[in-house]
Amino acid sequence: DKPPLATTPPMGWNSWNKFGCDIDEELIRGTADAMVSSGMRAAGYTYVNIDDCWMAPERDAQGRLQADPVRFPSGIKALADYVHARGLKLGIYSSAGTMTCQRLPASLDHETTDAASFAAWGVDLLKYDNCYNEGRPALERYTAMADALAATGRDIVYSICEWGANRPWEWAAEIGGHYWRTTGDISDRWGSVVSILDQQVGLEAYSGPNGWNDPDMLEIGNGGMTTEEYRAHMSLWSILNAPLIAGNDLRSMDPTTRALLTDRDVIAVNQDWAGIQGHKIADDGDLEVWAKPTSGGGAAVVLFNRGTTGARVATTAADLGLPGARAYTMRDLWTDTTTVTRSHVRASVPAHGARMFVVRPGGHGAPAVAPDAVAPGYV
Ligand code: DGJ
Repeated sequence: DKPPLATTPPMGWNSWNKFGCDIDEELIRGTADAMVSSGMRAAGYTYVNIDDCWMAPERDAQGRLQADPVRFPSGIKALADYVHARGLKLGIYSSAGTMTCQRLPASLDHETTDAASFAAWGVDLLKYDNCYNEGRPALERYTAMADALAATGRDIVYSICEWGANRPWEWAAEIGGHYWRTTGDISDRWGSVVSILDQQVGLEAYSGPNGWNDPDMLEIGNGGMTTEEYRAHMSLWSILNAPLIAGNDLRSMDPTTRALLTDRDVIAVNQDWAGIQGHKIADDGDLEVWAKPTSGGGAAVVLFNRGTTGARVATTAADLGLPGARAYTMRDLWTDTTTVTRSHVRASVPAHGARMFVVRPGGHGAPAVAPDAVAPGYV
């Protein structure tokens, strides 16, 4: 059986979204250092993942993958040691095809050899892509690597990057996957975030401890979206129980980006499994309500506005599935304020924005009482 390495959604960093093929061992070491100094590690981020382009253009004389001698002259083992010394874990990448997407050697029909190399180097996670797959069945290709990883005896998180092409949510958990991409690639644009979000509807039934839906890595801090757009991205990915894999340059992160990525309350929602991943419970035009139960009898909610003007978004304790009570506390996870409400959970949400709350039955100890008039427009 697959090792329980992802009882909560894995958290870390990956080189692809920001750096593409422009990677080297100095970047990876610098990122590991920044993960610690920035507070990312303390917030729960653990994996430092090297994506495509780490390998040399040819296998070695024994048929093994080898690191690019110019970009990674010290080799992957040395890098794993460096990362481990900082209390972090190292992830690596290959493809279930004859080449990676960037046309470097990949692992189809080399699964045993390559998994053995990854284990010998001390790798802790494999992201396994889908390029140049020769049209062979996904289930067979991804199972071959799952079995090869298991045969190494090393604990290696298995990230299945099959882009949602063959409904991986139906088989990836069973064959040994710890999370699986549900869509094509994210990009650093609002339209991409919204389009990926729309493709998550209905997938909530397939996600759970040790097997998570992956709506792709974060773009927060990469510059193509506004702060409010990035806040919505973080809020939604968190409530979806997505693996939180940062994709920005951690070595030069501004305080706003850092605050978005490391918010304790928001991360706590992501890491809390209480039976179902967040899902859309209501929509009305550009306005949506996404919710999930949280342990301790509460509910997390994201009030989401995909439109281009600010709007009031609201739901109720009952619609969040909470038991009847005389009052509810409502914690705003981004402003760290708590109010009391009798029933309605609502907020002004900026254009392309989100507000995020945890709502719990019981009003004691909270500082203020929110007015309880019915929200105009959207309920
Ligand atoms: C496609 C994947 O979906 C991306 O996340 C990235 O790994 C690239 N391939 C790398 O070539």
